[in-house]
Amino acid sequence: MNRPAFEGLRLNVPAHVKHARLVSWVAEVAALTEAKAVYWCDGSEAEYQRLTEQLVAAGTLLRLNPARRPNSFLARSDPGDVARVEDRTFICSERAEDAGPTNNWMAPAEMRTLLQTGDKALFKGCMRGRTLYVVPFSMGPLGSHIAHIGIELTDSPYVAVSMRTMTRMGSAVYDVLGGHGDFVPCVHSVGAPLADGAKDVAWPCNATKYIVHFPETREIWSYGSGYGGNALLGKKCFALRIASTMGRDQGWLAEHMLVLGVSSPAGRKYHVAAAFPSACGKTNFSMLVPPEQGFKGWSVTTIGDDIAWIKPQADGRLYAINPEAGYFGVAPGTNYKTNPNCMDSLKRDVIFTNVALTDDGDVWWEEMTPEPPAHLIDWQGRDWTPEIAKANPVNGKPRPAAHPNSRFTVASIHNPVLDTEWDNPNGVAIDAFIFGGRRSTTVPLVTEARNWTEGVYMAATMGSETTAAAAGQQGVVRRDPFAMLPFAGYNMADYFQHWLDLGTRLAAEGASLPRMYCVNWFRKGADGKFVWPGYGENMRVLEWIVGRIEGSAGGAENVFGISPRYEDLRWDGLNFTREQFASVIGIDRSAWQQELGLHAEWFQTLHYHLPAELPRIKARIEQRLAA
Ligand code: GTP
Ligand code: SPV
Ligand code: MN
Repeated sequence: MNRPAFEGLRLNVPAHVKHARLVSWVAEVAALTEAKAVYWCDGSEAEYQRLTEQLVAAGTLLRLNPARRPNSFLARSDPGDVARVEDRTFICSERAEDAGPTNNWMAPAEMRTLLQTGDKALFKGCMRGRTLYVVPFSMGPLGSHIAHIGIELTDSPYVAVSMRTMTRMGSAVYDVLGGHGDFVPCVHSVGAPLADGAKDVAWPCNATKYIVHFPETREIWSYGSGYGGNALLGKKCFALRIASTMGRDQGWLAEHMLVLGVSSPAGRKYHVAAAFPSACGKTNFSMLVPPEQGFKGWSVTTIGDDIAWIKPQADGRLYAINPEAGYFGVAPGTNYKTNPNCMDSLKRDVIFTNVALTDDGDVWWEEMTPEPPAHLIDWQGRDWTPEIAKANPVNGKPRPAAHPNSRFTVASIHNPVLDTEWDNPNGVAIDAFIFGGRRSTTVPLVTEARNWTEGVYMAATMGSETTAAAAGQQGVVRRDPFAMLPFAGYNMADYFQHWLDLGTRLAAEGASLPRMYCVNWFRKGADGKFVWPGYGENMRVLEWIVGRIEGSAGGAENVFGISPRYEDLRWDGLNFTREQFASVIGIDRSAWQQELGLHAEWFQTLHYHLPAELPRIKARIEQRLAA
């Protein structure tokens, strides 16, 4: 095979890599970035141990006390690199209309000048003094007909080890790829070239950040950040933004959804896919522990906690896989009451980022325990005590020890309620879709859509209060359709049309479509506290949904669809009064008139290609509301 030469750098292509186009691309990127060396990851345990040791020596990782948290590490990021950067994320389609009004767009040629070809192109020499890691990964079970392969070239060993946990990463990918297989090329640099002999920092990154997608050529170029979705390119960049455009072209869906299995005491099992925006409860819901009283024989098992790839199969049903192999989950708020299965998943083999360090070498984050420890090292490496926290308030609250978007990276196999089908290459058949936002007012606890089109309307107009998962202002309501606002790789109106078309197509084939639901766990009372207890108690809503699918659960029709009455939910073991229930299920006419005004503005924003069905449904809701 022809192995391209590259001045001063040996490519060291392993013998089992037989893909000429891949090798020449690696050579090109190595030349462009002037990487010091090229290392091909094999995904082995020995390699993981070696790279984590190297990261410890470099000060990027701190090994936690092996007696408390075996084989686990803490990373502290640069304080300016703590979340996804939506305003620095670009969809560079040929036509601006194809990115649509909800994405940042730049012409591909212009972006390529900026990143690759211009005199001051950001990637020119950006890996000087650093090793380029070649990270081969499969999104989805290796060789599954629903799976796809990516190769990430990164100058961050933290990213390389994280990708091993988050994806099926390693040499076996090259066997599936063969000599000519397709892969999504993902180039990532922290944007911090190292001069000869210069000392590195613990978390190299650059104040200038670009998270760039070329949907037509299915390429990803990410510059300046080492954190989460900005840098682990298999996740949001590939599995959502690029994959959603693949799904548009090929007739399938790439969604920001958890997938769970729910089994009833009668021994029946259903699969539910649920879209909640970032930091709005997907991981929690996917690992739900049913309440002790009244729910004997019910169980919930996890297929995925963040992303679903969903394809129609010959039987007319929609089958979902989790393209990931690990969880990059929100730490704060996770504890043995809210999510015991998650806590049990985190006992060993975890990389924590931006949580606090305890005096005995373990981790802590807000609400992990009812009382904080007397002393901690906070996520920025500073001393933390409750007194220091109070003396340095942030937004009127004691300064948190862990960053609000601090996260854990852990393999799915550590989840005690991992579904037996979680890596079935054919996926699981979806029985219901749930869409949910974080709304302190207006949106009821649960509503069933009367049909697919009205379900698409609910999802398309969903609003949610912003969270720490993205840089920027928090707690402001914005439209987050299908929880995909930051993740759709193409025009949002075309995306709605794609969902509508899929429903029409499946219905024409005689399939019974999954039911659709809208939920909101986050309504607040006059005291500013959540009224609905949430977490495991969400099982009460899930049981109602299963009952609806089976035809046994009652409900009352309202202006949007069907919601349960008080007597339609099981209340064993929970003191939740009719009045409290009324306050989370109620539809306030004036609040909804205002809300529909926001839908109107939203549709105005998306007027180009907006499916005509959606304003028609809005008009019908308005009529019902006025009646
Ligand atoms: P991403 O990984 O960012 O996509 O987020 P996610 O949707 O998986 O969010 P996650 O489950 O990690 O939850 C984030 C936050 O929401 C945590 O602080 C939880 O404690 C909180 N949360 C989750 N479920 C509930 C619930 O039912 N009620 C309330 N009040 N809070 C919840
Ligand atoms: C999200 O923000 O929805 C996440 C975390 O799941 S990240 O991978 O950083 O995008
Ligand atoms: Mn997410």
